[in-house]
Amino acid sequence: MIISVNLGEKSYDITLERGALGRIGEVVGRGRRVCVVTDDGVPASTVQKAIDALEQNGIGTLTYTFPQGEESKSFDTYLALQKTLLDAHFTRKDAVVAVGGGVVGDLAGFAAATYMRGIDFYNVPTTVLSQVDSSIGGKTAVDFAGYKNMIGAFHQPRAVLIDPDVLLTLPRRQAANGLAEALKMGLTSDATLFSLFENETILPPAPAGRENATVADIADRTTMTLLERVIARAITVKRDVVQEDEKETGLRRVLNFGHTLGHAVESCLGLSELYHGECVAVGMAPMCGAQIRDRVVAALQRLGLPTALPDGVKIGRDALIEAIKHDKKAGKSTVTAVLCDEIGSFRFVDMTAEELVARM
Ligand SMILES: NC(=O)c1ccc[n+]([C@@H]2O[C@H](COP(=O)([O-])OP(=O)(O)OC[C@H]3O[C@@H](n4cnc5c(N)ncnc54)[C@H](O)[C@@H]3O)[C@@H](O)[C@H]2O)c1
Ligand SMILES: [Zn+2]
Repeated sequence: MIISVNLGEKSYDITLERGALGRIGEVVGRGRRVCVVTDDGVPASTVQKAIDALEQNGIGTLTYTFPQGEESKSFDTYLALQKTLLDAHFTRKDAVVAVGGGVVGDLAGFAAATYMRGIDFYNVPTTVLSQVDSSIGGKTAVDFAGYKNMIGAFHQPRAVLIDPDVLLTLPRRQAANGLAEALKMGLTSDATLFSLFENETILPPAPAGRENATVADIADRTTMTLLERVIARAITVKRDVVQEDEKETGLRRVLNFGHTLGHAVESCLGLSELYHGECVAVGMAPMCGAQIRDRVVAALQRLGLPTALPDGVKIGRDALIEAIKHDKKAGKSTVTAVLCDEIGSFRFVDMTAEELVARM
């Protein structure tokens, strides 16, 4: 399936199909070199498939691998990658291919956006989160001085290849983490997508005692087909939003649903406790009207996502308020919050940090 993103001369296609990874060579095209950027948590076999597909098309490759984790989404890694491109004499006709999750995509995309004022960037996202969210829309960045995504650029990819098969090696918890973002998109913008989460088992639970289960351990053919449907609908929601508002001056803020409280929880907890999508899951129900809140909580719980702070974890009201104030745009006393009263719809409301925390 091809989902086209129409952004004038920056338009590109997202290909969603099993085995899409093997098509990266023909998509990038002959007569140039490619730097494959990845991290050491992406299975070597997945990276090798991409390299083989490139080389079979006569494309010379070099690989830049950095340690997995958000800590690597840094200016240091960015500089080391730029140095690698420079030492290999990459020119403006060469390209960067990201094979990994959102950390790899954001970092590789920013490197491509700025190397020699911008070279071609291709994204092969390998986590659910990056397949449904971060690989679409052209936001690239690194974290800086304790702030997430502080230095970055809008740089649309030339193409995105989404291969659901690469998700088989992903830990179940990481998959659920990414599905939180897809559920969010259904909730605000696509009632049919939300109904899949309500009525189908998108991600079966891990067997008892197998907290480290991967998608392959729990998913059969039916669940993989369902997962693919969810990914397709979520991509379409995100595509529509980005087409309407590429640089986030209005509508694109709908994607922040659940994120204002979610980010506050995330920054109070620090990096290790809950994943980003899990924090967003905690931040979603409070932004829903009373008439749908129970349905949203039930859908999140079906994925095994948290809907409240884990047992034993306490964050004070004041700490959350401070975190929201820290996040908000300088000079404004309120934040634009996204509320959902009816599945598949949303409204923007300016709220103070105190009002937001009172909803939790
Ligand atoms: N650009 C955007 O619009 C945008 C949107 C949302 C999030 N983001 C960013 O995305 C990042 C989070 O992305 P993420 O959740 O993908 O995290 P991630 O990139 O850290 O990946 C999670 C973990 O999964 C591992 N992994 C990747 N693919 C795998 C596979 N196929 N099998 C097994 N393990 C695999 C990685 O090595 C990593 O350890 C954050 O930095 C966030 O800011 C960006
Ligand atoms: Zn998010």
